[in-house]
Amino acid sequence: MTSTIEPATGREAACATPCGALRRPAALVRNIDVSGLVDSDTGLLDRAIFTDEQLYRQELRRVFAPNWLFLAHIDQFHKPGDFFTTYIGEDPVIVTMDKDRRIRAYLNSCRHRGARVCRADEGATRNFTCTYHGWAYDLDGKLVSIPNKDGYPESFDTKDWGLVEVPHVETYRGLIFGTWNPQPSPLRDYLGDMAWYLDAMLDHDDEGTVVVGGVHKWVLEGNWKLAAEQFATDWYHVNMSHASALMVLSPTKNPKNEIVHRTGRQFLDPNGHGAGFPVHAKNRFNAQKVHEWIDYDALRERLGEARVEGPLTDGHATVFPNFSYLPVIGTIRVWHPKGPDRMEVWSWTVVDKSMPPEVREAQRLYNLRTFGPSGIFEQDDGENWSEVQAISHGFITNSVPLNYQMGIGSEREDGRHPGTTSELYSDAAGRAFYGRWRDLMNTPAWHEKETR
Ligand code: FES
Ligand SMILES: [Fe+2]
Repeated sequence: MTSTIEPATGREAACATPCGALRRPAALVRNIDVSGLVDSDTGLLDRAIFTDEQLYRQELRRVFAPNWLFLAHIDQFHKPGDFFTTYIGEDPVIVTMDKDRRIRAYLNSCRHRGARVCRADEGATRNFTCTYHGWAYDLDGKLVSIPNKDGYPESFDTKDWGLVEVPHVETYRGLIFGTWNPQPSPLRDYLGDMAWYLDAMLDHDDEGTVVVGGVHKWVLEGNWKLAAEQFATDWYHVNMSHASALMVLSPTKNPKNEIVHRTGRQFLDPNGHGAGFPVHAKNRFNAQKVHEWIDYDALRERLGEARVEGPLTDGHATVFPNFSYLPVIGTIRVWHPKGPDRMEVWSWTVVDKSMPPEVREAQRLYNLRTFGPSGIFEQDDGENWSEVQAISHGFITNSVPLNYQMGIGSEREDGRHPGTTSELYSDAAGRAFYGRWRDLMNTPAWHEKETR
């Protein structure tokens, strides 16, 4: 991570909505009590949480807006004006580096008639100029130029019409997160014990990670939670869903016995994060060239035996709500919600900055073959989520609950891995994920408290 890059944490912009915002009638933001839809004690889930339009709107208000969400990797910004456009929930945001080299994020919507002021995926600029009527904003989000300014009343002050800024942006080991919440807990506190597991991918040495290649984006017909949940809690599907892919890539003759049928642990967190991993060296399942380059003794020294023979071996993880990664494959991704029935997957490949070019290339290709948009594992997963979603709107189907009961009662502190863990094959992190989701859905967010 470049030390001169500073996120815009704690800046004066403590308000996530612009001054003078209109007061929205309460009828437009009716909330549903979801207690009856998620029973994390008995491990039952109502499928309405994947299909209901009103619940989806509530999710945008109460799950996406108040939480820390992943925006970009720090390696995407090297000089002032570098930018990347993404989403917080369904809100488009521009992430950019200002003249003081701070990372800042703005709502990508013109204050005039609302068009996006930046339509490119990424690039470098001095100003963001709206292509509708030409209002232009600088890297501080200030409105710096408008055509026919004389036509506006004297009370019009450009200071009042800057881009709406994401009030808090923080980084953790090169990952940039932002939140609309004006008073969030610090990102590090939000991650809690999850940081220990994240470090298995991001903290191999002092140089940190960089992005290799671009950002892959593809659309899946399925609710975003199906993917986030699987990455939090589901090693169970590997043996069945990925059987053929394992046969293709396995260095052994019997991948099911030697790779999949192993013990391991699953981490679950009260904030909804989750991670699972086998705990046996034979589970290492990465590109041979990468495997040979890695200095496992140095890693043991730095990260400890439990982490090297755990989350650094293989596995899956989700930082609540919609950021997931696979520590060994080096894929990090966001499941962007696009309505209850659709998600857009955005995926980056990260590698150690210290990796020589040929090892980076080996990792990039391995990532593409396995979890790129046409990767042999990725397609198995996408197919499953679309299959679940495709039938969930049936009236009877929708009212038959789903089972998340595996490993009920197995949650404990295991003395080796931080936080609470369960068995490798377990729904424990899934229950925690949906428990957190339910609590957030039932809790008024800051923007509701302000208007009371
Ligand atoms: S909508 Fe941007 S200038 Fe009019
Ligand atoms: Fe999978």
